[in-house]
This record gives sequence, structure tokens and C-alpha cells, in this order.
Amino acid sequence: MKGKISVLFMAALMVIFGMSTVFAEAGKPNIVILATGGTIAGSAASDTATTGYKAGAIGVNALINAVPEIKDYANVSGEQICNIDSKDMTDAVWLKLADRINELLSKDDVDGVVITHGTDTLEETAYFLDLTIKSKKPVVIVGAMRPATAISADGPMNLLNAVRVAASSQAIGKGVLVAMNDEIDAARDVTKTNTLATSTFKAPELGVLGYIEDGTPVFYRETTRRNTINSEFSVEKVTALPYVAIIYGHADGDKALIDAAINAGVKGIIYAGTGNGSVHKADEAELAKATTLGIVVVRSSRVSNGAVIAAEQSYTNEHFLNGGTLNPQKARILLQLSLLKTHNLTDIQRIFDEY
Ligand code: SIN
Repeated sequence: MKGKISVLFMAALMVIFGMSTVFAEAGKPNIVILATGGTIAGSAASDTATTGYKAGAIGVNALINAVPEIKDYANVSGEQICNIDSKDMTDAVWLKLADRINELLSKDDVDGVVITHGTDTLEETAYFLDLTIKSKKPVVIVGAMRPATAISADGPMNLLNAVRVAASSQAIGKGVLVAMNDEIDAARDVTKTNTLATSTFKAPELGVLGYIEDGTPVFYRETTRRNTINSEFSVEKVTALPYVAIIYGHADGDKALIDAAINAGVKGIIYAGTGNGSVHKADEAELAKATTLGIVVVRSSRVSNGAVIAAEQSYTNEHFLNGGTLNPQKARILLQLSLLKTHNLTDIQRIFDEY
């Protein structure tokens, strides 16, 4: 309760005295923090509660002012993009975020952006931005597993670390980054691996990019996959993304769901198959029907590691594409962006091979 009171007290002071969250000092990078909600801005009824709280309850100024150490690393200002539980994330918020980040990073006096976000869809927003931001300047996404009101909340240190990464020249040109739990991950590779633990964000297959070592961001590697300024995707003037559904493969294949997706007007289907994107025979016939209707089908996998590559000859004959190492939720985003540009299957497979 104490934590909650101090955060709310600080927010009240700011409203009463009109305090600014801009800590401007020459020589330090200028970082804009864009807040979208999530547990990092969550408020619970007690300081021991880590579930059953309201995500997205605290505003960006209170988040920033709860971590005064930030001003040692950067001049920071905050903007509230939305204040939602990230399970409710939408294309509309993604497009608004991408627009605003591209606008901010085109300015000479903005050196980087940090986005505070719920952890549930954090990896999806990160990957969407990785493909649509047109700048080499650092873009870092951060969340927390414990609400801001909890004893030992992880949000303040995660936010400080995210600013440290965004302020680091080492982060320039590394694509969109996720900074959580003292680790730095690539947007493309990172995924939420644990429903409750603070150490939930991992890139289990392709590995962490670096660490925040006693306050200093240290990089050990970088992704070779196309992103940001090397991405061919643009969402300038785009108002909605193509409808792509994910169908989950399992024993006793359920072709009714594929049928429903076709009837609902999908433009693409990500099939989260078993093993190497294997397709249940009941589903295969229905997916083949989808491709004859011009719906693009990409085989992905419900297995968390390993690439989905060409397998059965029938999949090739039926024009199913291979999703590589992207998990189904990220394959969905790449297919949505691909479909803004092309319906050519060779081109879309090339995109999956390059991104
Ligand atoms: C959310 O994703 O907004 C809630 C869960 C979290 O941030 O950990």
C-alpha cells in the first residue's frame, strides 16, 4: 500500500504544482517515453498482490517521476499514447505508435524512444515497430511483471535500464530492443516464456543480445535479420492491417475453424502446426482450399524452438509457405505487413526468408 500511496502522492503533487517531467540538461541524450499501459503502470489493492490488479492505471508522468535516477542518463519527457492492458492491443494503437515514433525520431533533438507496455503482447508490438520504424536511433520497449504498487516492483529498475539502453550509442542501429530483467533482446527473437516470473522475456533459441551490467548496457551480438531502416515496410498513411488469423494445430484436427476463418474473410492464415509446421490431414484439405481462394497460408509451429522449413511435397504443391523461426504471433505480423505490399507467393516467401 505504501508504494501505491507514494506513486499516487507524486502524481497528485504534479497535478497541483504543474510539475514538468522534462529533466533537460545539455550533453545528455533526449529520450521520449511513450506510455501505453500494462502492469508497469498497474495498481493493486495491496502491496503484496501480483495478480488481480488493474493494468494501465498510472500515468506516464508518475512512472517517470518514480525513478528520478533517470535524469542521470538522459533528458526525458513523457507522452501517454494509451493506458490499456496489452491483451487488448489493437492495430490502431500500433499504427498510432509507429507514426508518433517515426515523427519523433525524425527530429534532431530526439535521440531515442522508450515505450512502456504490458508484457502480454509486448513482443508483438516490438516486432511490429521493428519492421516499421524508419530510424537507426534506439527504440526500447519495457514492461514489468509486478504492478507499480507491489513490494519489490520490477518496473522502476526495468524503466531505468530501458532509458540507459536508449541513451547508449551502442544501441544505435540494433533494431527495436526489449530491455527487461537486466537483459537486452532483439524484438524479432524475444518472447514471453513464463506467465508469472519476472525473468519471463527470453530469446530461447537465438539468444540474448546483451546485458545491463551494473548499470551499463553491454552488447555481445546483433541480429542479421532486416529491420528498421533496412525494412521494406512502411505504414505511413495505412489505417488498418490486413486480416490474418492464427489456427492452432492439434490432435483431432478441427477444420471448422479454418472454414470459419475463410468465411470471415481472412487474407492470410498462420497455421501453428505440430513439429516442423506439420498439418493435420483434416486441416490440410481445408488450408489447400484456402489457397485456391487466394488466401496466403504460412506454416509456423506451436513448438517454441527450431525453424519451420519445407517438408511434405503436398505442402509445396498446395502453395503453403514456410514461416522459419518466427513464432506464430510474429509470423502473423510479418504476413500482415507483406500483404500490404504484395500477394505474390514467391515474394512473400522471400520476405519470410529475409526478416
Ligand atoms: C498487460 O500485458 O498489460 C498486463 C500484463 C503485464 O503487463 O504483465
